[in-house]
Amino acid sequence: MVKSFDMKKRILAIETSCDETAASLVQAEENKEDWQIEILSNIVASQIDIHRKYGGVFPELASRAHLETLIPVLEQSLPTARIENTEYRIKKNPLNSKFSTLNSVTAIAVTQGPGLIGSLLMGVETANILSKLFKKPLVAVNHLEGHIYSAFADQEKFSIPKKGIFPILALVVSGGHTSLVLMKEHLKYEVIGQSIDDAAGEAFDKIAKILSLGYPGGPVIEELAKKGNQNAIDFPVAMPKSLDFSFSGLKTAVLYKTKNPATGKKLKFKPADLAASFQKAVVDALILKTQNAIEKYQPKTIILSGGVSANGYLRDRFQKEIAARQILIPPKNLSTDNAVGIAIAGALKSSSFNLGKADPNLKLG
Ligand code: KG4
Ligand code: ZN
Repeated sequence: MVKSFDMKKRILAIETSCDETAASLVQAEENKEDWQIEILSNIVASQIDIHRKYGGVFPELASRAHLETLIPVLEQSLPTARIENTEYRIKKNPLNSKFSTLNSVTAIAVTQGPGLIGSLLMGVETANILSKLFKKPLVAVNHLEGHIYSAFADQEKFSIPKKGIFPILALVVSGGHTSLVLMKEHLKYEVIGQSIDDAAGEAFDKIAKILSLGYPGGPVIEELAKKGNQNAIDFPVAMPKSLDFSFSGLKTAVLYKTKNPATGKKLKFKPADLAASFQKAVVDALILKTQNAIEKYQPKTIILSGGVSANGYLRDRFQKEIAARQILIPPKNLSTDNAVGIAIAGALKSSSFNLGKADPNLKLG
C-alpha cells in the first residue's frame, strides 16, 4: 500500500535553553507498532566562543546571541529541496521565501524549560510567532526529554518502538542535570535520582576552571585525562548506596590537590593525573548509581544522554560495565544540546498539543 503524505508529520523544533541555538526538522510516521522517524535537518549554532572568556555561560549574552542567530539557524533548518513536492506556497510571504516551507510543517515544537529564562524566552517567543503566522500548533517539550529521545537517533532514519522497550532507565548527564529517570511508557517520566548539588557537567567545567583549561570543561578534561593515570588519586564516590549524586565534595577534593586549604599555598600536582582521576571518580559514581537503579527497577532499556555522554571514556565504560539487553547512547553530536531530540519528543507528543510559558524550572513529569 502506498502511504499518503498526510500520514506523515513534519515537526520543526527550536531549542534555545542555554548556549546553543538549534533547530531541526524531522518527519515522523506513526504505525501500529512504532514511529518511523527521519531527520531532515539538524542545525546547531554554538555560542562557545562568546562565553569562553567568561569561563562559563553569560546569560545576558546568551539571549542576545539567540536573538541574532535564531532566524539564520531556522532558515538553514528548512531544506526546501527536501520538501519540494509539497504544497507550501503562500501568496504574500511576510518572511524570506525559505520560511514558506513552514506551510508543510505539521507542528512546531519548542523547549519550554528548564534552562536560562532569557534564552528560553527567545525560542518560545519565536515559536509562538511562527505558530501564529503559519497557523501551526505548538508543542512544548522539556529539555531533558529532548536529551532522552535524542538517544534513539542513531542514524538519519530510525524507528522508535511503541512497546517492548519498557521500563526505560535514562541517565541524563549534562551541564545542568544529573538525573536518573524511569519511564514505564513513552513521555511519562519519574525522576528516581538526581544530583543534590553540582551536575556532572558542571563539575567538569569547574575542574577545568581550577586547572585553567578553558570552557567548556568536559572535552578538555577528557583530552588531558588521556595522558594521565586515573589511579593516581583515589577520590571516593559520595553516597554510594543512594540513587542521588553529589559532586561538590569531589570538586573541593580536587581543588585541595592544587592548593593547601589552610594557607592557600600552591601545591605541586600533575594536571593530567588529576584530570584522569577526577574523570574516573565522576564515571565511577555515574556507573554505580545506574547499577543501583538497574537492580531496583530491572529496566529493559538503558539510555545514556546529555552533554557529558559525549565523553568517550564514559561511553566505553558504560557499554562494558552496564549489564542490559539494550543500551542507547546518542551519537556525540546529539549528546550535547540539539533540536533533534526536541523534534522527536514533539512528534510523539503532537497528538496532545499544549503550550505553556517558558519555565526556567520546568519539572519532568
Ligand atoms: O547537554 P549539554 O550540551 O547542555 C546542558 O543541558 O547543560 O551539556 C553541556 C555539558 C557541559 O558541562 C560540558 O562540559 C559537558 O556537557 N560535556 C562533556 C563533554 N562534552 C560536553 N563532559 C565530559 N566530557 C565531554 N567530552
Ligand atoms: Zn542539555
